[in-house]
Amino acid sequence: MKRVIDTFRGKCRASVALPGSKSVTNRAMVLAALAGGSTRLEGALFSRDTKIMADCLQKLGCAVVLCEAEGYVEIRSGGVEKFARSADFFVGNAGTAARFVTALSALVPGGEYSFDCDAAMRLRPMSGLLNALKLQGAKFDFFGEDGFFPFSMRSCGLRGGDIEVDASASSQILSALLMAAPFAESPARVVLGGETVSRPFVGMTLGQMGQFGFSAREARSGVFEVGKAQCADSGAARVYEIEPDATAASYFAMLPALTGGAVLLERFGRCVLQGDAKFVKLLECAGLVKTCKVGDSLLVESARAEPPFPPELTSSEYDFNDISDTFLTFAASSALFPSSVEIRGIGHTRAQETDRVAAVAAQLAKIVARVDEKSDSIGVFPMERRALRDALSGGRVEISTYDDHRMAMAFSIPGCVPVSEGAWIEIENPGCVSKTWPGFFEVLDRARADSEKFRVVAVDGGAAVGKSTVSRVCSQKLGYMHVDTGAHYRTLSFGLLESGISPDDISAIEGMLSRIQIGTLVDGQSAKMTVNGVLARDDQIRNKRVNEAVAKFAAVPQVRNFLKNYQRSMPSVAAENGFSGLIMEGRDIGSVIFPDANARIFLDADEATRQARRAKEGISDSISKRDALDKSRKSAPLVCAEGAERIDTTNMDKDEVAAKTLSIILKS
Ligand code: C5P
Repeated sequence: MKRVIDTFRGKCRASVALPGSKSVTNRAMVLAALAGGSTRLEGALFSRDTKIMADCLQKLGCAVVLCEAEGYVEIRSGGVEKFARSADFFVGNAGTAARFVTALSALVPGGEYSFDCDAAMRLRPMSGLLNALKLQGAKFDFFGEDGFFPFSMRSCGLRGGDIEVDASASSQILSALLMAAPFAESPARVVLGGETVSRPFVGMTLGQMGQFGFSAREARSGVFEVGKAQCADSGAARVYEIEPDATAASYFAMLPALTGGAVLLERFGRCVLQGDAKFVKLLECAGLVKTCKVGDSLLVESARAEPPFPPELTSSEYDFNDISDTFLTFAASSALFPSSVEIRGIGHTRAQETDRVAAVAAQLAKIVARVDEKSDSIGVFPMERRALRDALSGGRVEISTYDDHRMAMAFSIPGCVPVSEGAWIEIENPGCVSKTWPGFFEVLDRARADSEKFRVVAVDGGAAVGKSTVSRVCSQKLGYMHVDTGAHYRTLSFGLLESGISPDDISAIEGMLSRIQIGTLVDGQSAKMTVNGVLARDDQIRNKRVNEAVAKFAAVPQVRNFLKNYQRSMPSVAAENGFSGLIMEGRDIGSVIFPDANARIFLDADEATRQARRAKEGISDSISKRDALDKSRKSAPLVCAEGAERIDTTNMDKDEVAAKTLSIILKS
């Protein structure tokens, strides 16, 4: 099986619902089993690794219900005392299940367990954990190499006191002991011999232990004091919310850096336990993206509105020790960076799902000029885009995934960039993504389809609320056409005033409207209305005289009717001119012109703020008088259309308004 990655035709413009975090889900399942009672994990991840964990806990005697359709897992447990005294565990290639379930079953006095796994897991480090458990009394028989899967364990509970552990190969070894330690006979101190890798995961474990009512803290560097747990509370009923997966977010955070545009990472703001949430900061510091919080989501935009994407990076060296699961995302996409980068702090990932450093280096070598692989780092020297296109000569590169979900997802992202004619990357064994994100390719396909969807966006609001600024900025960022319909009314008002016609002389107005021809001039991102082939100048339509008359002319039904069909033809004008959407601003766009627009936004701000904004522009404009006329007229009055999203911009700066508006558009 292979998966061809279709390229995005233009900028990416999508909103992405992230799966629940694998690491948080698997820790929460373990802690729920330990704490006893019933626990409902909302927003849990359903993937191979979490199903393996659920299966192991069931074998230990817990009742686990996976309700995938509704996104929750329910665990009922009688606590450690009720754990099964024997079981045959199969942990697949799930490092968390491998380490956590071993430590968990070591708590049972007189238990006999056997453990087996996928071939890849047999190579992954376990001895740090097994040695610590041995010192606490557990006995092991190894069926392959000593210190590795498969093995059997005779457990006798943990004695407690000082538990020394070597977690230099994996922080999961330390996390496993920390979670089990509250159930040792006497209070335990887990003492780290040397250092560990991926430190933030230890913080995640301590944080989640606290959330489940266990007391554990790092008293001093490498020394963890763990309080003794109370008896299991079998009557407890808790609801625990699982954070979205910050590592999964890394793929879609990278996307706009390469394609331009923007992605909304839904609920990303909830990621507080995961170190990998820092990846977006790294992208921001690298000068690749800009980010802005919108509610509990995060808007990630390309740092540049216009090509070339991606821009030159601010640095050529990046340390991933703390966020090493995301190094693959960065490394795979570095093939399309404008210059070379060195990625460091990744030596320990050689002992993960596969030797990730070697795997990434080998696959990158297929699409870059040179890769320097060292024990703890890789240097990537990309080809120039043209050289890459020539090298591909219309063909595709097959990326081997080594059964590693992150290889598959990471290399899909550069594959989205239209480097050559048609698709140029195909992913071997794409099913391996089921380890942490079974729906990844479907989400990527949807993001592509959403990015190519032609959207009509209505932005309405009173005078000086900032419609033009936000519409212009958003159009530029998304590659949409911008139409300022206020300018249409101003242009007509200017012409009528020049001809000496007053707003109450309806027959003169009708006479003039029947004599003029309106057309369109596309100027950069904006489409402007011309009258008899002439575009009115800004100083002609934005002055005191027009400001005072425009609302009166705009209240005349004949004037509005005259413009209606013209304004409704703007989506075709946008499409014909190669734009992928339209943002039209005015007073009645969401209510009358495009009541079925994909997104309808109504901007508002208090009057003092609007007065101040207009005063800054230095043009005399009695905005409240205009607003009053616009609101009270019979034909298409200024209203917030039913169902439109109202944004009060009074206390927001321009960037925040743009981010909020973009997020509404991306979700539409
Ligand atoms: O947006 P701007 O302030 O340039 O609009 C000038 C005037 O044009 C408004 O006060 C309003 O009377 C009229 N207008 C309208 N309907 C629109 C856009 C503008 O009535 N869609």
